[in-house]
Amino acid sequence: MARKCIIAGNWKMNLDPDQGFELIEGIKAGFKPKANLEVVVIPPMPLVALAAHWVTDSTLSLGAQTSSSFRDGAHTGDTSPELLRILGCRYALSGHSERRGDHHESDAQVAAQAKAQVEAGLKTIVCCGESLQEREAGVHINKIKNQIGIIYDTLPPEYWGEVSIAYEPIWAIGTGKTASPVQAQEIHKMIRDHIESKAGAQVARSTAILYGGSVKGSNAKELLGQPDIDGALVGGASLKADDFSQIIQAYEVS
Ligand code: PGA
Repeated sequence: MARKCIIAGNWKMNLDPDQGFELIEGIKAGFKPKANLEVVVIPPMPLVALAAHWVTDSTLSLGAQTSSSFRDGAHTGDTSPELLRILGCRYALSGHSERRGDHHESDAQVAAQAKAQVEAGLKTIVCCGESLQEREAGVHINKIKNQIGIIYDTLPPEYWGEVSIAYEPIWAIGTGKTASPVQAQEIHKMIRDHIESKAGAQVARSTAILYGGSVKGSNAKELLGQPDIDGALVGGASLKADDFSQIIQAYEVS
């Protein structure tokens, strides 16, 4: 059975309720469901409950950009993964590089967050990736292995099937520079091999590994055509229905 392809639109801290509603209506209008394809919209936190209503009559899934590593309680300003699931989220991101950068989230904190998400019934998309300096210094492979390895060390095996990975080289996020399909495939294969060493061949084979970093309609087809690229995490190009729809259409059932 082929792995699922996940195309996820991370709106980051963009769009107001009217713009969010319009965007989802636009995506729905052009969306033809395909076998094995899941399309996820990931609005800013204050829009999650509204977006849950906007997607109800569609096959679009809803995700959140982050969540607390606690289930509930005295954590002012944090968001419970349990509450996100109750509101209608199916997915949550953990460890996006902007969270790691802006909020100093460590690998251990990201793993704790991912664990709380799957325990709450969400699927987690764990983000990993290196800066340009790290790539140039040749330390990127070890960095990514550490970011991924700790997830499987922290989550009990019964939750490994709820994990997807997003490889997002930081130098390609929002810059217009994309890793070439060959560069991306090389890292995705390394990630899958590392998952195999931590969690076994079956988990490695079935885990979706998404690519993120300046994905757009013009490069999506070639990226999604690589054997170990199972989807895309899209920022800028997820904010316009036409742009995002082009990426969705680039997925061809294999
Ligand atoms: P981008 O963002 O598509 O704007 O590069 C990707 C991401 O940060 O998830």
